[in-house]
Formats: sequence, structure tokens, C-alpha cells
Amino acid sequence: MKRYDILTVGDLCVDLVLMGEDLRPGFGQEEKLIEGYALRMGGSCSIFSCQAAKLGMRVGIVGVVGDDAFGRIILDTLQESGVDISLVRVDSSIETGISVHLQEPHDRSILTYLGTIEAVRSEDVSLDMLHNTRHLHIGSYFLLEQMQESFLSMAEEVRRTGGTVSLDTNWDPQERWGQGLHELLENVDVFLPNENELQAITGTESVTDGLERLKGVVPIVTVKLGGEGAMVQKGDELWKAQVPEVEIVDTIGAGDSFDAGFLAGFLEGKTLSESLAMGCACGTASVTAAGGTAGQPWKADIDGWLEQIRVSCVRSC
Ligand SMILES: Nc1ncnc2c1ncn2[C@@H]1O[C@H](COP(=O)(O)OP(=O)(O)O)[C@@H](O)[C@H]1O
Ligand SMILES: [Mg+2]
Repeated sequence: MKRYDILTVGDLCVDLVLMGEDLRPGFGQEEKLIEGYALRMGGSCSIFSCQAAKLGMRVGIVGVVGDDAFGRIILDTLQESGVDISLVRVDSSIETGISVHLQEPHDRSILTYLGTIEAVRSEDVSLDMLHNTRHLHIGSYFLLEQMQESFLSMAEEVRRTGGTVSLDTNWDPQERWGQGLHELLENVDVFLPNENELQAITGTESVTDGLERLKGVVPIVTVKLGGEGAMVQKGDELWKAQVPEVEIVDTIGAGDSFDAGFLAGFLEGKTLSESLAMGCACGTASVTAAGGTAGQPWKADIDGWLEQIRVSCVRSC
């Protein structure tokens, strides 16, 4: 039996979320008092890994942390969720990456120091790892610049040995939406963009057109629609899920938790609509607590969330 259900390569970092009505910095040494903060593990792939492990998946994450307090927060959080951290390298020559989120009630600004986020290299991923996983999840494609060239051969290797591959690019900070992405797309089984990413990548102006463009390119495409829920397409088959209105604390990592829920369903052999509901249950649960992981449901709690998701057929189900 393969050692992992899911292997991923991580953009390991912490999120420091500062909360308040007015967080606009005043230079000239002005000091402002704020209403609160939360310091949590961040990074798309690490948040994703925690959610997948909480649902019972055997998850391994490859990545780098600094030999510092923030690095220890990351390792502890992964471990508490049940993620295998034996593939994480501790490097004392690099500082752990950090994103400082200035979270005002209706908007957010983010300042990021990359540090360990971009320190992971293709040499950190061995053939043995790729042969010992049922599934490879590629997240943060655009942030992991050092890995971009290797993702294609990694995907091919996993598929050659009977595994499947998923991709969530997340946002491209440079908004170029290329760098080998289109070739990689032809080698993934599940693609998980949000609405804006789908349109940017396909060069379209609607979700419908974006999905149409990917028919015959990627077998399964999910589209995350924030408070509007999500959709999933497989060939002509198209489903839509609606999510309940919930009290939002922050939306950090909602899409990554969605990915984990959807893929846990997919890897457990659930139907397309059941997997979509799993994704939405995890995404929606995650927005109800601060940071990316605190609100994520464990396997035992997911039914309460699943009951609140309404999935309906749009076409050819
Ligand atoms: N405002 C919200 N209310 C309820 N659920 C939400 C909300 N925002 C996000 N979600 C949940 O999280 C999932 C992914 O969120 P989304 O913001 O679309 O992804 P991403 O983080 O990749 O942009 C959604 O499909 C939904 O289930
Ligand atoms: Mg996302």
C-alpha cells in the first residue's frame, strides 16, 4: 500500500492578522492602538494539508521552515491536525515566511516576507515520495517559483504510477497567468480555481465561458464562488452548491479547505456532487473562525455542515 493518500509541496509561513476599524499606518512614528490580533500557521498548502488530515487522509507535506518560533507554530499546527511532518526540512539559515494581514471590517491589505515560502526546491521531492502517494496536490503554483519547472515532471511521474493530480494555482501576484501552466493543466485530473482565477487563466469574462474553455483539457474542474458556494464540471455534467449564510470571522484559507474537502471525497470514491458538498462544508466552516485552520471540521463534525449545503444539477447529471 502507498504511504500517503495525498502528498503536497508547501509554501510554509505564518499569518499575523491585525484586526481593527482603522489599520492605515501613520508614518512619522505615529502609534495607533488596534482591536486585536491572531497569529496562526498560514500558507495554502499547509492549510490544505491540515483539513485533509482532519478528514482522515494520510497527508505528507514537503517544505521548509526556519529554526525559529514561527517555524515551531507551523510544525505544531500540522502535527495537531495529523499531518506527517517528516518531509519538512528545518533550515536555520532562513527565516520563516510571514504574511501580515491588516484586516479592517470590509477590506484587507497583506504584507508578505517570503523567507521559507520560496525556499523549497525540486531536490526536496524524491521519486520515492512520488511513487508512494495516491495523489499529488499542487497549490500556490505562482508563489513556488523555484518549483514551477519541476511540477510537470512530478505530475507525470505520479500519474505514471497510478496516482492522480490536482492543481489550485491561487492568485498570480504578477498576474501573468503563464509560466508553463497550460502544459501542466493537461496533466492534472482536478483543477480547483476560484471564479477570478478561472477567468484570468482562460482569458474569459464569465464562469460559464471559463468552464467551457477547459472542457477536454482537465477532466474535473471545480470553481469556488465565495459566499455563492461552488460549482463542479466533469465533461457535460455540471453541479452547483449553495452554502448557508454564516457569521464570517475571516476568509483566509477558505479555498484551500474547500480543496481538501473536495479531494477527500474524490479519493474516497464519493460522487461528484457529494465531493462538491464536502468541499463547501469545509470552506464554509473555515470562515467561521480566525485564520485558516481553527474552523476546519474534523471527520466527526462534518455531517452538521453537510446538512446545510444544497447541491443541485445544472446540466447533464
Ligand atoms: N462568505 C462566505 N460565506 C459562506 N461560505 C463561504 C464564504 N466565502 C467562502 N466560503 C466557502 O469557502 C469556499 C471557497 O471560498 P472562495 O473564497 O471562493 O475560495 P478562495 O479562497 O480560493 O478564493 C466557498 O466555496 C464556500 O464554501
Ligand atoms: Mg484560493
